[in-house]
Amino acid sequence: MIVNPVKVGSVNLNIPVLLAPMAAITTPAVRILAEECGAEMTFTEMISAAALFRGVRAARNLIRRSSPGKVFAVQLFGSDPHEMGYSAWYLKNQGAQYIDINMGCPMKDIVSNGSGAALMKTPELASDIVKVVIDSVKDEVPVTVKIRAGWDFDSLNAVPFAQLMEKSGARAITVHGRTRNQLYTGKSNPQVIRDVKNSVSIPVFANGDIKTAADAMELIRFTKADGVMVARGSFGNPWIFRDIRKSFETGHCVETPVTSEEKLQMILRHLEMIEISQDADSLAQSRKQIAWYSKNLHDSSSFREMVFSTSDIQSLKKLASELFSKNVN
Ligand SMILES: Cc1cc2nc3c(=O)[nH]c(=O)nc-3n(C[C@H](O)[C@H](O)[C@H](O)COP(=O)(O)O)c2cc1C
Repeated sequence: MIVNPVKVGSVNLNIPVLLAPMAAITTPAVRILAEECGAEMTFTEMISAAALFRGVRAARNLIRRSSPGKVFAVQLFGSDPHEMGYSAWYLKNQGAQYIDINMGCPMKDIVSNGSGAALMKTPELASDIVKVVIDSVKDEVPVTVKIRAGWDFDSLNAVPFAQLMEKSGARAITVHGRTRNQLYTGKSNPQVIRDVKNSVSIPVFANGDIKTAADAMELIRFTKADGVMVARGSFGNPWIFRDIRKSFETGHCVETPVTSEEKLQMILRHLEMIEISQDADSLAQSRKQIAWYSKNLHDSSSFREMVFSTSDIQSLKKLASELFSKNVN
């Protein structure tokens, strides 16, 4: 089963394997490293339209490119059409080439404002938002939506909701097969993704519980989705994109073991990116990622302790090299 290229508006995705937007995770370094491993496109974390509208610097600072030459994809959240329209215009002026609207975030402080997954309970408002956003970028940037199965098991409205989003002008839909009330627990339901795929003509990206290339292949086989989006399966494992990419290219599931050297090189490279970054990536927010890479390396627990207790990048690099000498394959 070969997975075909996908066209989302003006954006061509040759091998449709994407890194999901993740708050406080998908910094430029994480996105660049994922792209170097094989992710075709990666997203900024969700950015608040209300904050952009008010000119909040912290929100503006999230508008960062990943690798030069890759599509500059951003995710926006909000529930006020005017703020969303303004923010989309602002993002386009900052160079954004792909705007995804978050209609899946389950967090209380987001849904209590009517944003994220709460939009699945107000389809007319969601439709207005999509139309206003498309209008404000003059349809020059593809506008897409990321949804869940529904609010809860009693309101599984992904299919009619997706159809309405398509009618409103969305150029693609990502479906996470959990409900809002499941948060990140239980299982993502692939049947919902399959039902959405069968009911719209725009590309559908399947999301939820992809931890290996085999999971990605199976999800595509079952749902017939056009591509996949990986979130937690990439934690400490950007090589998942290499495997999925190869699997999609060849049609056979490819899972290549990651060597100790690759893990160590990843740690060093990530630390170097933090060193040269101007605020976009800090050690403080990257500690978890750096620690994750070292998982399963022999004698790595003291390294992880240091990752959380020092702010000295040079000594972390030294420790990483020492860890490597203990782990030569
Ligand atoms: C730490 C974290 C932050 C997230 N932040 C966002 C976000 O900013 N925007 C979004 O649409 N989804 C966000 N998500 C949801 C993921 O994009 C994805 O839909 C979800 O984790 C299911 O995929 P998975 O099973 O591969 O993790 C986040 C998930 C996690 C774990």
